[in-house]
Amino acid sequence: MEVNKNLNLDNFWIPFTPNRAFKLDPRLLVKAEGMYYFSDDNRKILDGMAGLWCCNAGHCHPHIVKAVQNQIAILDYATAFNMAHPKAFELAEKIAELTPDGLDRIFFGNSGSEAVETALKVAIAFHASRGERQRTRFISREKGYHGVNYGGVSVGGIPANRKSFGPLLTGIDHLPHTWNLDEMAFSQGQPTWGLHLADELENILSFQDPSTVAALIIEPVIGAGGVIVPPKGYLEKIREICSKHGILLIFDEVITGFGRVGDSFAANRFKVTPDIIAMAKGLTGAAVPMSAAAFKTEIYDAIVESSETPIELFHGYTYSGHPVAAAAGIATLEVYEKEELFQRAKKMEPIFQNALHSLKGENFIVDIRNFGLMGAIHFGPDEGKSATEISSQVFKYCYENDVLVRFSGDFIVLSPALIVEEDHINTIVETLRKGIHSI
Ligand SMILES: Cc1ncc(COP(=O)(O)O)c(C=O)c1O
Repeated sequence: MEVNKNLNLDNFWIPFTPNRAFKLDPRLLVKAEGMYYFSDDNRKILDGMAGLWCCNAGHCHPHIVKAVQNQIAILDYATAFNMAHPKAFELAEKIAELTPDGLDRIFFGNSGSEAVETALKVAIAFHASRGERQRTRFISREKGYHGVNYGGVSVGGIPANRKSFGPLLTGIDHLPHTWNLDEMAFSQGQPTWGLHLADELENILSFQDPSTVAALIIEPVIGAGGVIVPPKGYLEKIREICSKHGILLIFDEVITGFGRVGDSFAANRFKVTPDIIAMAKGLTGAAVPMSAAAFKTEIYDAIVESSETPIELFHGYTYSGHPVAAAAGIATLEVYEKEELFQRAKKMEPIFQNALHSLKGENFIVDIRNFGLMGAIHFGPDEGKSATEISSQVFKYCYENDVLVRFSGDFIVLSPALIVEEDHINTIVETLRKGIHSI
């Protein structure tokens, strides 16, 4: 593919990226197909990240491409305010078939961040609709990532994402994260240690009146914070405590939804049913931006039935249920079903796990974590080199050697598309190994 050699890199302010360093040595992707990207220097690069945990059906799947091409030529846009179009309803019905029983009311947004904002706002509105206007507090968890909007950053638990942005929202407590190097390093799948950390929720509630808490929001498996897998029994315990105190449980499944953990949603995989699920990424395989929040019927009914105004919820986006995104979503869910990709992810999980853990014992690695097709290789500091420097060097080696992994501070993250083959996994892991040896 022809690339403009005089491309001006000045104007695009690149998110979550060291702009100064990147613009001196940019990495540009110009084409994609299946498990591969193609770079501007004509290399074929194995994508170990499914884009950014999102191209779950692989890149440029012909069925999704065709659906998008067809839709944009027929109906480019229709507002969802007082109007609608059929595909948004069709997609909502399809999503409701995949969510746990009872979570069948679907609100569309454009990004994971918006799905989170929708979930948080609706949680408060739900309690207000039942006369519990005092329930406005949230509880979340350290190392959690819930997007970049104000609500999401306020409940977020990654310090760097919070500290430049002032006081954020008040009325939020954070549970401790569950990662403990001494107790659970190199656990395969769910660690057996750490269940007691769910009791911290009771601790928080013992000094914050539980009747003031609207919802608890967590990622069932922490993604951006480092693939932190919940200890056995942890999510069940959290569910139990939330139910006891009338606190809504929100699962942020922006990453874990749509097959990433070997089932439609982590809620189904762990058999723990939240009251609200936020989702995005795999919903359209990232072909067109779209997100959604799924709510229990009771939540929808409480808000809609008790409303004193004709419009029951003053919330929504210009692009809620956008026709092209809806077409992409329907096509993507068809691909997942036809190609049995959720089952495939489950089948590949042990192969992925074994390959990843074969890196145990290599220099600098202090932990390896995995669940479904999510994995992290965590580095420690060594002889004056920080863990982040080591991780960054490994990332660069991999990219220069035609494998894309995600560099994320002290760790490297993997989340291949659900179409991944054993050979791809081996290539990714062996390239990582050579990257470590190169240091
Ligand atoms: C768990 C989780 N929630 C929310 C978001 C925010 O999604 P977006 O970047 O689409 O706004 C992300 C993004 O990675 C995420 O991982």
